[in-house]
Formats: sequence, C-alpha cells, structure tokens
Amino acid sequence: EWVYLNGEFKPYDEACLSVEDRGFLFADGIYEVIYVHRGRAFRMEDHLARLQRSAAAVRLELPRPAADLEAAAGALTARNGLEAEEATVYLELTRGSAPRQHAFPAQPRPTLLMIARKAHRPEPEKLERGVSVITVPDERWHWCHVKSVGLLPNVLAKQQAVESGAFEAVFVRDGRVTEGSSTNLFAVFDGVLWTHPADRWILGGVTRSVVLELAGRLEITVREEAVEASRLGRADELFLTGTTTTVLPVVRVDGRAVGSGEPGPLTRRLQEAYLQELE
Ligand code: PDD
Repeated sequence: EWVYLNGEFKPYDEACLSVEDRGFLFADGIYEVIYVHRGRAFRMEDHLARLQRSAAAVRLELPRPAADLEAAAGALTARNGLEAEEATVYLELTRGSAPRQHAFPAQPRPTLLMIARKAHRPEPEKLERGVSVITVPDERWHWCHVKSVGLLPNVLAKQQAVESGAFEAVFVRDGRVTEGSSTNLFAVFDGVLWTHPADRWILGGVTRSVVLELAGRLEITVREEAVEASRLGRADELFLTGTTTTVLPVVRVDGRAVGSGEPGPLTRRLQEAYLQELE
C-alpha cells in the first residue's frame, strides 16, 4: 500500500510525520474524503473548492495547485490497485511541524497527506432497510462549515451511537437539528424535503448538494431550513447523506419508529437517483 506525502509516493510503512506536526499537536489542519469510482473521482471540483474554502478559513495555503492534487489522487488510487474498484481518498493538510507553540510558525511548511483505500459503503441491508440514529447535544465549535480535523466531539458522538446500537448520532443545537457526526440529515414532512441550510452550523456536504440537485430534477420541493428537534420523531421520512454513507434511510430516532418504520418513497427515489449518479 502506498500513500502520498508532501509530493512523494511512499510505501505506507515508510511514510513518516514529525512528532511535532501541528495536525497531531493542535488539530491544526483540514481534510477531505473523496469517493473514487473506477479511477474517476466523484465531484472532485466540489471537494477541491471546499478544501480551498476550509484552507482559507484557517489561513492555510494549498502547497500545490488543485489540479496537481487531483492528478496525485488518481495516481495514488492506481498505485494501490484500486482503479477498477470503489475507493476513497482521504486528504489532510496541516500547518506542518514546528517546536510546539500556539502561534503559527514563522515559516510554515504544511504537511499534505493522502491515503487511498477501498471504499466501504453501508451494507446492502442497511441501505435497503434503514438504520437508527440517536440525538445528542451539538457541542462543537461555531465553524462547522470548515472541514477541520478537530473531530473529538464528532468521535464522542459517534461512539455513543455505536454503544447504543445506532448507526449515527444526530446533533441538536438550540433546539434544532443540525447534522450527523459525519453525515448530513434530510427530513420529509408532507412531501417537502427539509435540510439544514449550509451555514456555519453544518458541514455543507458534497453529497448534500448532489441530493438537492437531484431533488430539483425530480421536482421535489425543498426547504433549506433547520428542523426543530421536537418534530424530528414526527417526520414522515428521514435519511442521512455523506461520501461513504451515500443516501441512507433512517427508520428509528432515539428508539422510536420514523413514519411507517420503513424507508419512505422520497428517500427511495433520491437513493436510487444518487446511486445512479455515482456510476
Ligand atoms: N464526513 N457532516 C459532517 C460533520 C461530515 O464530517 C461529513 C463528511 C458530512 C458529509 O459530507 P460529504 O457529503 O461531503 O461527505 C457532513 C466525512 C465523510 C468523514 O469525516 O469521513
């Protein structure tokens, strides 16, 4: 297995990072997760645009042009023999290594890492029958639109979900549902598709944008508005979206059935349309 580190391809076991990399010490870094199908990166331009926005927000500069990153991601999946498969590329950019102090180093040398792996979509049974979620307080920072590697609240929330037998933890901030720990959430009420607006309280998912596009094409009415947590359990349908999650029906919230307890019709249509789009 090969990884890409600062412009070079290295065998996994030989790729080394400094013990004082600021990604490790301060979570001073950002990332992307990109889906690559048969060597073709899905919506690469959206991922690169978001990477640029995250970088700008935290005053990082991409060490090389976006086009180079795209080529490197392709080359890395090929080197790992994944060009005929479904793969994900994890890309991380940190402010590099320097003696530990909070302020930026005078001459930062960013670390840029890419790892390519076989993709793991949710099991067919989950995509077919749906999953359960729990709700948890959203105790993250105020810049959720930045794809920061500071994911401790997300990690703790997901672990809580796993320990309670649920697939995902859905965050609630000020009485409103924001998103999942690594997914966006959609709800259907009376035939209208609701999802939180892409503001600073969520990570505007690439999958979320594609689903909104597909909803437009399928003439489904959309409201980019947060759902009150108290109404979540009364939604007719719920589903999660994300690069690795695709479109995943949610059939239980905090142990109570959603709608009929089975994936709903709009969820199905959008799921089918999305899976076709991936091909
Ligand atoms: N997570 N919201 C959060 C908090 C996320 O971390 C993610 C992605 C999403 C969905 O974004 P997209 O559709 O662009 O994947 C929403 C990635 C996959 C991860 O951390 O592994």
